Amino acid sequence: MNEPRIAFIGAGNMAASLIGGLLAQGVPVERIRASDPGAEQRAKISAEHGIFICADNAEAVAGADVIVLAVKPQVMKRVCQALAPHLSDSQLIVSIAAGIPCNSLERWLSAQPEAAPAIVRCMPNTPALLRQGVSGLYATARVTAEQRQQAEQLLSAVGVALWLDAEQQIDAVTAVSGSGPAYFFLLIEAMTAAGEQLGLPRETAAQLTMQTALGAARMALESDVDAAELRRRVTSPNGTTEAAITSFQAGGFEALVHQALTAAATRSAELAEQLGQ
Ligand SMILES: NC(=O)c1ccc[n+]([C@@H]2O[C@H](COP(=O)([O-])OP(=O)(O)OC[C@H]3O[C@@H](n4cnc5c(N)ncnc54)[C@H](OP(=O)(O)O)[C@@H]3O)[C@@H](O)[C@H]2O)c1
Repeated sequence: MNEPRIAFIGAGNMAASLIGGLLAQGVPVERIRASDPGAEQRAKISAEHGIFICADNAEAVAGADVIVLAVKPQVMKRVCQALAPHLSDSQLIVSIAAGIPCNSLERWLSAQPEAAPAIVRCMPNTPALLRQGVSGLYATARVTAEQRQQAEQLLSAVGVALWLDAEQQIDAVTAVSGSGPAYFFLLIEAMTAAGEQLGLPRETAAQLTMQTALGAARMALESDVDAAELRRRVTSPNGTTEAAITSFQAGGFEALVHQALTAAATRSAELAEQLGQ
């Protein structure tokens, strides 16, 4: 596969992570360009990554194979409508914006309704900033096999990229991994506070909690058995872990998690309805 030319529209946090990840993967610097209205932001990205960056979105997309829409959802409609006359049929549009459905992007990006572009809609998450993210990707029918590979290579530069069969699943991805880091932060806060109440210095409780979260996640990722089996293996009858797990379950832990993620997925669908207008 020829190395695609990639243009980023918006060079904020997420675009900077993707650019850094692509360069670290060995993508040549001249294959990546970007546009951003902020002069300071342009100077920062140019100094950090050495890519070509300009203020004009139309200039950035000229000759690009892949166009990454990395602006905030609120400005997406305006950005897309202004870009529409500058796009060609063969270009792949990758949107990382939360809550903007493909049919809205198609509507905003095509000068004529019958000429809808190929779109991959992605839902990354914040650990992408450390290249430890995970993204759900959905491709519209016009996306070719080669373009799917290009989108996957792009998102793999900042973590794991997983394909979805239906666009609706983006709401579930948002509920599980998009908002997910905050659930783990909440658990870290609660466990740290409990450790402190049990007599540990706050810093010690925090380090014990965070290292345990990291270690447990790595064990779950690297093990050939599932999390339920790993949990069974560390839960001896009448032991300390069993005392805690029984207490969590008596408080309705699983039902609470289910309810929380359902609330996030519902909100994601509502936001898509509003932002896609
Ligand atoms: N950060 C995350 O963890 C995360 C996770 C999932 C999805 N996302 C999605 O990723 C997208 C970008 O998020 P971010 O955190 O990288 O935001 P960000 O840091 O605010 O980056 C957006 C950049 O776009 C620029 N911009 C504004 N108007 C523009 C225009 N008309 N043309 C070109 N660029 C323009 C902004 O410049 P100004 O600041 O000067 O306006 C800013 O530099 C969002 O849609 C968000 O939903 C982010």
